[in-house]
Amino acid sequence: MFKFAENSPELEKYLFSFGVNEHPLQKEIREYTEKNLGNSAIMQISPDQGALLQFIIKSSNIQNCLEIGTFTGYSALTMALALPENGSIVSLDIDKINTDVAKKYWNKHSAGKKIDFILGPALETMEEFINQDKIFDLIFIDADKKNYKNYFLKSIELLEKDGIIIIDNTLWKGKIIDPNISDDQTISIREFNRFVKDFKGTESMILPIADGMTICRKL
Ligand SMILES: C[S@@+](CC[C@H](N)C(=O)[O-])C[C@H]1O[C@@H](n2cnc3c(N)ncnc32)[C@H](O)[C@@H]1O
Repeated sequence: MFKFAENSPELEKYLFSFGVNEHPLQKEIREYTEKNLGNSAIMQISPDQGALLQFIIKSSNIQNCLEIGTFTGYSALTMALALPENGSIVSLDIDKINTDVAKKYWNKHSAGKKIDFILGPALETMEEFINQDKIFDLIFIDADKKNYKNYFLKSIELLEKDGIIIIDNTLWKGKIIDPNISDDQTISIREFNRFVKDFKGTESMILPIADGMTICRKL
C-alpha cells in the first residue's frame, strides 16, 4: 500500500505551522535566503528537517557536531540552538560569500558562539581532523553530491561507536528512480544509496522528509 501523504503547498504550510517551532533567527536566515538567493534557497534544509536535527541532538545527548556544507548558515544555527551550553559545531564550506552571510546571522545570538567555521574543501579539512584524532558525535553531510561516499567514509573515521551520520537529499526529488535521468548528481546519489544500504559498519534508513534524509548509526 502507498503510504506517503500527498504533498501540496497547503500541507507544507500546515506542517510548518503545527509541526515546527522555528526560532526567530532561523526564520530570519530562511527569509533572507529565499528573498536574496532565488532558486539557490532550495539548498537550505526545511524547517521540519531542522526540527528533526534538533530532536536528534537533544534526545541523543549530542555535544560535538560536524557539518559539511554551511551555505547561509541555517542548518548550523539550527543545530547550535539545540546543543548544550558547552556543545560545539564545526561547519565546513568552500564559498566565502554565502558563509559571510551565515556569520553575520550567527553573531546575532549567543548560540552562534558554538559554531566554528572553516573555509576550504571539506574532504581536506576532514582528513586533517582524522590526522588530529578528532571525534564528533554527529556529522551532517549536505554538500557536493559527487563526494557523498567520500564524506561518508571519512565520517566513519571521525565518529565513535553509536555516532550518527545524517545525509541530506538522498531521495533527490525522486530523480533516483527515473531510469531516463542520468546526470552526474543523480548517478552519485543512486550509487551512494546503494553503497550505504550494503555498508556493514552502520545501520541506516532513508526518511522521506523534504528531499529525503538518510540517518545512520555507526555500529
Ligand atoms: C546544500 S548547501 C548547504 C545548505 C546548508 N546545510 C543549509 O541547510 O543551509 C551545499 C553547500 O556545500 C558547499 N560545498 C560544495 N562543495 C564543497 C566542498 N568540496 N567542500 C565544502 N563545501 C562544499 C557549497 O558551497 C554550498 O554552500
